[in-house]
Amino acid sequence: MKSNRKDMSMKPVNGPQLVQIAHEYGTPCWIYNADIIRERIGQLRQFDVIRFAQKACSNTHILRLMREQGVKIDSVSLGEIERALAAGFSVGGVHSDIVFTADLLDRATLARVVELKVPVNVGSPQMLEQLGQASPGHPIWLRINPGFGHGHSQKTNTGGETSKHGIWHEQLDETYALIERYDLNLVGLHMHIGSGVDYNHLAEVCDAMVAQVKASGHDLQAISAGGGLSIPYAVDDECINTEHYFSLWDKARCEIEAHLGHSVTLEIEPGRFLVAESAKLIAEVRAKKDVGNNHFLLCDAGFNDLVRPVMYGSHHEISVLMPDGTARTTDSRTTVVAGPLCESGDVFTQEEGGTVIPRKLPTAEIGDWLVIHDAGAYGASMSSNYNTRPLAPEVLIDRGEARLIRRRQTVAELLVLEDC
Ligand code: LLP
Repeated sequence: MKSNRKDMSMKPVNGPQLVQIAHEYGTPCWIYNADIIRERIGQLRQFDVIRFAQKACSNTHILRLMREQGVKIDSVSLGEIERALAAGFSVGGVHSDIVFTADLLDRATLARVVELKVPVNVGSPQMLEQLGQASPGHPIWLRINPGFGHGHSQKTNTGGETSKHGIWHEQLDETYALIERYDLNLVGLHMHIGSGVDYNHLAEVCDAMVAQVKASGHDLQAISAGGGLSIPYAVDDECINTEHYFSLWDKARCEIEAHLGHSVTLEIEPGRFLVAESAKLIAEVRAKKDVGNNHFLLCDAGFNDLVRPVMYGSHHEISVLMPDGTARTTDSRTTVVAGPLCESGDVFTQEEGGTVIPRKLPTAEIGDWLVIHDAGAYGASMSSNYNTRPLAPEVLIDRGEARLIRRRQTVAELLVLEDC
């Protein structure tokens, strides 16, 4: 894979600005940069529609930024539909900004998508049946599991026989019969085989999409490439070549247009690619320990904040800043970086399966700051209240100006749900 972005030898940090924000809002704290999001959107402009998979980062201020850039939106829960509406996305009919993607429809969500006429990207025959009964003629997409998948971890592989997602490629006859029975309005076909695509799988998905359109016997207005584009989490990871990515899908689209005899809209549905590199999680070093041969740095962010390392063994680069924001670069020390939670897995430097991987980091002192990079996707949106820890604040830097886009949750707000 060849990069179409400049190589990075070190993840960039504007230390003094990060530290100023950390002083103002406390740590841990998520800090986003809007310019990076705009730049990533720009890299995908060749697609007719960029539909942001908001599960990656669902703060309404980020969603608004997406909308202002002409990006549309994917929602996967009732809550995400309400977030998209709150951010000003429009809804209703085949040109709705919002598409709802799922493998089941709970009762409350079914009622809301019918009320608002939100197009539904259908992942099971039962969804078709329930939607068809409640709303004949409803606009739909079909999410197809083409029989294979690929992800950066088994947990993010969304195709093949072990995946619960999409309609199995051999069950489409039943699906099309249901579409006809309820006169559902089939807008397009969609395939998302996992997070972390590679080009071998991509070519296969494009071929599968062409074959499915030809086999469907239906007219279609659109196809969706799904999401899955990765980013260089480690400094020596390669960047995805978005030109090449587009050219493979464009070729598939041309074949489909020749078959259907009219033009077809090509959508892409990225989450990670648009936001991962835009944010850093900043934490303060509060303790250190030497345990046998291991040197531990303990900071005030835990896996309730960023769960990716413990959940997938994901790698995030970490920078160490001195109290004034100057980056420490010398005196490397093999270090395990861990958090405050009462659980052994609360370690940021580990691989899938839980093996701790000590990492060479500059020697840090108590009161230093840790900057955990590329935390904008599946960072804040996957945070929890484990150990009764309130959600951390989110700050957005836009054209140099920092503003709070979510304040820190309080313990009192957690207790109030229990009438306490
Ligand atoms: N479309 C569909 C139907 C999806 O299921 C997903 C992700 C996306 C688009 C966006 O995928 P992306 O472009 O972000 O790879 N929590 C995991 C990722 C789970 C992805 C779930 N579905 C992580 O932190 O890596």
